[in-house]
Amino acid sequence: MNLTLRRGKPDDAQVCGAICYEAFKTIAEAHHFAPDFPSADVPVELLTWMLGHAGFYAVVAELGGKLVGSNFLDERNCIAGVGPITVDPTVQNKTIGRQLMEDVHHRAAQKNFPGVRLVQAGYHMRSLSVYAKLGYDIREPLACLQGPAINDVMVGYRVRPAAPGDLEDCNRVCRQVHGHDRNGELLDAVRQGAASVVEHDGRVTGYATTLGFFGHAVGESNSELQALIGAAQTFAGPGFLLPIRNAKLFRWCLQRGLRVTQPMTLMSLGLYNEPAGAFLPSVAY
Ligand SMILES: CC(C)(COP(=O)(O)OP(=O)(O)OC[C@H]1O[C@@H](n2cnc3c(N)ncnc32)[C@H](O)[C@@H]1OP(=O)(O)O)[C@@H](O)C(=O)NCCC(=O)NCCS
Repeated sequence: MNLTLRRGKPDDAQVCGAICYEAFKTIAEAHHFAPDFPSADVPVELLTWMLGHAGFYAVVAELGGKLVGSNFLDERNCIAGVGPITVDPTVQNKTIGRQLMEDVHHRAAQKNFPGVRLVQAGYHMRSLSVYAKLGYDIREPLACLQGPAINDVMVGYRVRPAAPGDLEDCNRVCRQVHGHDRNGELLDAVRQGAASVVEHDGRVTGYATTLGFFGHAVGESNSELQALIGAAQTFAGPGFLLPIRNAKLFRWCLQRGLRVTQPMTLMSLGLYNEPAGAFLPSVAY
């Protein structure tokens, strides 16, 4: 097998996006789940953005000169996020995925990231096995939740759009919960106008980059997350990810009409702190 790996470039977005769409669709439909992306345009747009963003490292695999897969490392924060990794369904199970993973681990080591994380589809035995064999530990079982807006106001918790001046307060909450901040990612979300903060007792006690598949949220307690979820008008993409060991928050969401669309798993390699507070991971971590 004449496989070569090289750095991804913006020109690769069209082909990598099409492979990404096919790979996720094939595995989801094989398990009777809805595909993560409604059409190929969505991953093409996502990968165009990632391939043009200096905060992401991209690697692509070529077999006999033809693009057959890609993988990404989100380098915007002090903990790196892996994915999306996808291999053309016609050449899966031939170690290409493993090689794309080893490449981003090499990159993470070069860049001195103390830890890397990812989220995998809970029903996908192959990705679970590849990651476990590469050394990843399972950290949290997750439920992807979707449904109509809850429109529930938490008394004493005010949700408002985040502004650049909120960054330090948000980073403080994130450090309190996770032991590190996610400043690069938060900065992007604030610039895009997607982030929200929640204030309690006159100070910022939680935030969300966005309520959805690609966003994360943290709060000093479940009340902050209830306020953020209750205020969201939509849950972007397939839904937002909730660690189901947080049984109280999980039940609160279910009682308000949200539905589980798929099980997922948060996994980590290297440094990991058990969170001290309430959180919703993004599909990266
Ligand atoms: C996940 C994905 C990237 C893996 O790439 P791949 O090239 O197919 O995988 P590889 O051939 O490198 O590795 C497959 C490994 O899983 C093992 N495996 C497969 N099914 C398994 C099972 N049910 N139980 C245990 N091991 C299993 C194989 O034996 C192989 O292990 P080995 O490398 O030690 O021999 C690819 O299948 C894909 O694109 N899937 C769809 C999209 C997706 O789910 N992406 C991941 C998102 S988190």
